[in-house]
Amino acid sequence: MTYQNIICGEAVETLKTFKDESVDLVVTDPPYLCKYRDRDGRSITNDTNPEAVLGVFPELYRVLKQDSYCLLFCGWNAIAQFSAAWEAAGFRVGGHIIFAKPYTSKAKHVGYCHESAWVLTKGRPAPRTNPLNDVQEWHYTGNKNHPTEKSVEVIAPLIRSFSRPGDTVLDPFLGSGTSVVAATLNGRNAIGIELNARYCRHAEQRLAGVTRYLTAKQKSTNVLEVAA
Ligand SMILES: C[S@@+](CC[C@H](N)C(=O)[O-])C[C@H]1O[C@@H](n2cnc3c(N)ncnc32)[C@H](O)[C@@H]1O
Repeated sequence: MTYQNIICGEAVETLKTFKDESVDLVVTDPPYLCKYRDRDGRSITNDTNPEAVLGVFPELYRVLKQDSYCLLFCGWNAIAQFSAAWEAAGFRVGGHIIFAKPYTSKAKHVGYCHESAWVLTKGRPAPRTNPLNDVQEWHYTGNKNHPTEKSVEVIAPLIRSFSRPGDTVLDPFLGSGTSVVAATLNGRNAIGIELNARYCRHAEQRLAGVTRYLTAKQKSTNVLEVAA
């Protein structure tokens, strides 16, 4: 049995209550610090407030187990600020994953058609036996429930590659709940933290749906086993 915990609260203050080295993997998509607006004009809380975002790195480093990974979605816009903060906390870069989109999100100096995630390491994690390629396919969600909703198809391969079943996966900027859903579907424990109460409720509803699905699946497996 795995456990899931969605905490409606502020990331740094909430993480301060966690024990040292209690998390196996961080997968997160923080506010981008780029005055983000989607096509409908929606923004993200703290997207123009670096203190409320970058202060999370020392806590993430503390709660992660030795020799483990933090996977961080972060584009080029605010990379200098982000990398200074993660390096000061102790993280090192072990890779950079590009998600190639079949469309351009916007065009200015170039046509912008990728998203990226940084593979940060704490200590020296063992090399992956079957490493994920650093160019991956992008899956678009339509962003109905959140302006930057990631798809389970994007997050799940990261969770499978950088953690094991039964591990604990943390997302301190949970949004609509995708990382908790992807972790749960892949047999991991999951903890998500989100400031916005509306997104917390949405994440809880998604998670309840996944739990119902997994329970029903388990029951039908049990019936088939008894019948066999
Ligand atoms: C880029 S979005 C994450 C979207 C998410 N990956 C998804 O699939 O829905 C970042 C989220 O962090 C939340 N947030 C911003 N500052 C926060 C803080 N200090 N503590 C916790 N959550 C925060 C925002 O409300 C927003 O939902």
